[in-house]
Amino acid sequence: MTAHATPDTAGPSAASSRPWPRAVLVANQKGGVGKSSIVAGLAGLIARPTARVLVVDADQQGNVSRNNLGVAGDRGRSLAMALQYGEPLRPVREVRPGLDVVPGGPLLAGMPGVLAAAPQTGIDPVSNLRTGLAALCQQEGYVLALIDSGPGDTVLLDVLLASSRYLVVPSTDDEASLDGVELLAARYLRARAAGAAIELLGAVLFNVNARACVRNAMAGTALSDLLAGSGARAFACAVRSDRAAALDARRRHLTPAELVMEAARHRARRIEQLATRTRPLGGDPFWSRDPTRLANDYQDLARELLERIAAVEDGSSGEDRGQ
Ligand SMILES: Nc1ncnc2c1ncn2[C@@H]1O[C@H](COP(=O)(O)OP(=O)(O)OP(=O)(O)O)[C@@H](O)[C@H]1O
Ligand SMILES: [Mg+2]
Repeated sequence: MTAHATPDTAGPSAASSRPWPRAVLVANQKGGVGKSSIVAGLAGLIARPTARVLVVDADQQGNVSRNNLGVAGDRGRSLAMALQYGEPLRPVREVRPGLDVVPGGPLLAGMPGVLAAAPQTGIDPVSNLRTGLAALCQQEGYVLALIDSGPGDTVLLDVLLASSRYLVVPSTDDEASLDGVELLAARYLRARAAGAAIELLGAVLFNVNARACVRNAMAGTALSDLLAGSGARAFACAVRSDRAAALDARRRHLTPAELVMEAARHRARRIEQLATRTRPLGGDPFWSRDPTRLANDYQDLARELLERIAAVEDGSSGEDRGQ
């Protein structure tokens, strides 16, 4: 196998003859801010047989593929081979109707070293990934590719920033996550200055107390302030805190929309058990009472995301975005 090397100086790469795939990177260097949950929630809502979606799990933890969506997959092999050798991306097909997944996992753990040595080895991971994504999206006709990134791995993060078309930055309302937004905004601006075509669509608050209206408004303003200069703002909607739903979703590998249906089934079973005076079977506990409001937050986020993408693609100015 030979390294697919396309140095910056080599002129237009194969990818530039293809249209930019609509690849949305969800990133924040900080951990636990909702990146994987948001990728899974959006993918589950947007994907359908007539609007196919690709999820790329670029995290060695493999949370979105394994835990959120229940895809065992190749533990990150295909993505690692694509980045390093320019091999075609091989997604796991139809993990839900219209949803394919390029899995993440431990085989991505060696990537930081490989990518850091790229200038010496002649590997061009940005060109490799862009070419692979563009080819796959064109071939499969995905309307959207959602890329989940891991915490901390800044070398891979820079490759993802240079290869994606859009960026969404999740954050909780604590200071450390907001610092992460600021760091990422700076990274994004550096990527753009180096020629990346990525557009920051906005930042989204995750794990918020839905009743803390004043605090949420202040956190939203803080987010927008951090993005000042990028032309983007905080998303109007936020993802509420629902620990019970989060536990059930990950353990059962359900998206928020699927969890709503599972909760309804669970309620119906419980009512039947009460009516027939049968004892509930032991086993896996189900914690969520009603994940509907959480699922609605994801619905609002999906709508706002698609509106912001449409605004960029229709040529609205950066000032109009997010209003
Ligand atoms: N609505 C929610 N309310 C409370 N906790 C949630 C909610 N959604 C998800 N969680 C939990 O919050 C934690 C962090 O979420 P998630 O894994 O999506 O963040 P992340 O940014 O992808 O983390 P990492 O940086 O480790 O990849 C997880 O344990 C997840 O189950
Ligand atoms: Mg994650």
